Amino acid sequence: MDRILVVNGGMPKGGRTELLTRYIARKYNFHYIDISEANLPLLTGEEEQWRLQSVVNFKDKVRLSQGIILISPEYHGGMTGALKNTLDFLTSDELEYKPVALVATAGGGKGGINCLNNMRTVMRGFYANVIPKQIVLDPECFNYDDGTLWEESAKLVGDMVQELQMFVKMTSNIETKA
Ligand SMILES: Cc1cc2nc3c(=O)[nH]c(=O)nc-3n(C[C@H](O)[C@H](O)[C@H](O)COP(=O)(O)O)c2cc1C
Repeated sequence: MDRILVVNGGMPKGGRTELLTRYIARKYNFHYIDISEANLPLLTGEEEQWRLQSVVNFKDKVRLSQGIILISPEYHGGMTGALKNTLDFLTSDELEYKPVALVATAGGGKGGINCLNNMRTVMRGFYANVIPKQIVLDPECFNYDDGTLWEESAKLVGDMVQELQMFVKMTSNIETKA
């Protein structure tokens, strides 16, 4: 089984981002991180922060994954500040050439694309391999009664997961040959 890590970059418990992250992790049997539970401080750049157990654990989880699904609500035209702070604890040691899929949750009215572009730019800064498929999910994409997505959105997610798994496979072939 692929070691794919789903990262919930949204804050409120019971929000759409949490619902989506749990839905994907459950449906595809992937690992799950909620950044609000990762217990990371605000990055100040002080040396001792890198030795904190919470920081070491988080970096290990990302490093040991073969692929990542990064999910954030769009906040004022970007990813959440909390997710950016979390990502700033990483380096290309954990992310170089790692396949990464992006999903934004948004308020509707054509929001979400700036969040995706923001995450893509930042992931490129780590030399991650951000896959072409990406998704925005608006409030009406969710079935709140059972914590799933309506069919059309579920298919978009399924197609994106398939593409991510293809890149994970390609990347593991490269590692084997090296
Ligand atoms: C501080 C803040 C800023 C937001 N900015 C945007 C935005 O720029 N574009 C957009 O489409 N939605 C925006 N929204 C709406 C959220 O992206 C949307 O409701 C999302 O589903 C929230 O995720 P959650 O349900 O996990 O909390 C904003 C919401 C908040 C709280």
